[in-house]
Amino acid sequence: MSHEQERLKERIAAELDIGRRHSNGLTLDVLDEEELLAQHSPLMSPLVWDLAHVGNYEEQWLLRVAGGRQALRPDIDGLYDAFENPRATRVSLPLLPPEEAREYNERVRREVLDALESVDLGVPGPRTASEDERFLLEAGLLYHLVIQHEHQHNETMLATHQLRRGEPVLLEETAGVATLNPPVRGEVLVPAGEFTMGTSEDPWAYDNEGPAHTVDLGPYWIDTAPVTNAAYQEFMDDGGYQDRRWWSPAGWEWKEGRGVLAPAFWTKEGDGWSRRRFGRREMVPADEPVQHVSFHEAQAYAAWAGKRLPSEPEWEKAARFDPRTGRSHRYPWGDTEPGPHHANLGRRRLGPAPAGSHPEGASPLGVQQMIGDVWEWTSTTFTGYPDFRAFPYRGYSEVFFDDGYKVLRGGSWATHPTAARSTFRNWDHPIRRQIFSGFRCARDVEPV
Ligand code: AVJ
Ligand code: FE
Repeated sequence: MSHEQERLKERIAAELDIGRRHSNGLTLDVLDEEELLAQHSPLMSPLVWDLAHVGNYEEQWLLRVAGGRQALRPDIDGLYDAFENPRATRVSLPLLPPEEAREYNERVRREVLDALESVDLGVPGPRTASEDERFLLEAGLLYHLVIQHEHQHNETMLATHQLRRGEPVLLEETAGVATLNPPVRGEVLVPAGEFTMGTSEDPWAYDNEGPAHTVDLGPYWIDTAPVTNAAYQEFMDDGGYQDRRWWSPAGWEWKEGRGVLAPAFWTKEGDGWSRRRFGRREMVPADEPVQHVSFHEAQAYAAWAGKRLPSEPEWEKAARFDPRTGRSHRYPWGDTEPGPHHANLGRRRLGPAPAGSHPEGASPLGVQQMIGDVWEWTSTTFTGYPDFRAFPYRGYSEVFFDDGYKVLRGGSWATHPTAARSTFRNWDHPIRRQIFSGFRCARDVEPV
């Protein structure tokens, strides 16, 4: 086996282990059986479903497909199929109880690591190869898929923790991140022209991130940093939630129907607002990006501010295009892996960092905090790029195209660094706000 493959396998084993420690840290290590089986919200799965789902996903892709081994528990595939079982119904399934889920996950992992030793990870092939060719050429992609899958479910589990009532169980690794920088407001002018959107080469990319293609955009302004709680409160104080002018018909209907008056988890306290964050109540910090807002709220704020949400290409160009070289990069700051100075990722704290905290993570155009902190709503409906090819199955992305989903970009404070890059595409219904969602605004350049 080549030295390169050996290094890749070590990295894969280490990354798999990190994911599992996070999964257990959000479930078996901190909550009792009753809480793990409970439905904390109809929007979310019982935590024990996510736990065994990541194990079953790993069994299907790494043990059976990449590893070429016999199935361990084909009988439970149906239970943990996300498409067959909507979240609200998962609590009534005959799920593996927590200890059985632990044993199952451990057994899958042992066999996966054993099989990994003799797997040929291959070399990244062209995205134009057929699916069968790619399975043979690029087993490494399946490992990356499964590593990121577990991290994505960990972020989902964090959203369940945020909805859960009762004593706090999650500790912050650091007591918040102090910023010496003043809160950043203002806008950046993105010049007109072509840029490369998406990727055909990134060995960690999901199918929906490719193929790379050229997009030509007119000039536009984009906010330097995400919209903060203080700015959002100006909209609220100005009667934004009561003024139909700012809302789309669907947004107004959603807001009226639910009686929404503020971001999720906020409570009025005299003149100000408090929020519940993982079981603790605290005053809403002015300089942090607003989170737990729906697409509709983001869109209404933007209209009130005389702006609009960026389209997905506008977001991506602002995040990764370097006008000096004409190239697009993996991250705003270039192609090096994210460090703590670049972005607030990987749950170092349990919330976004104040606007202006990461000037070193700015894009070449000077746009800040595109990666980490909060997922950012865009105005774009989730769909495939030109010549999209599903990989490794239609159910990852394709079944969600054009189906009432809006694209979110950039990752949040809860996103693991292996699942955060300038091409990564997330999607959700425009009414959802239990996710760690915020936004920034854009606007047209006025003709002179
Ligand atoms: C990309 C976050 C929308 O949770 O539905 C998890 C990720 N795909 N398991 C989701 C995913 C399969 C997906 N999102
Ligand atoms: Fe999943």
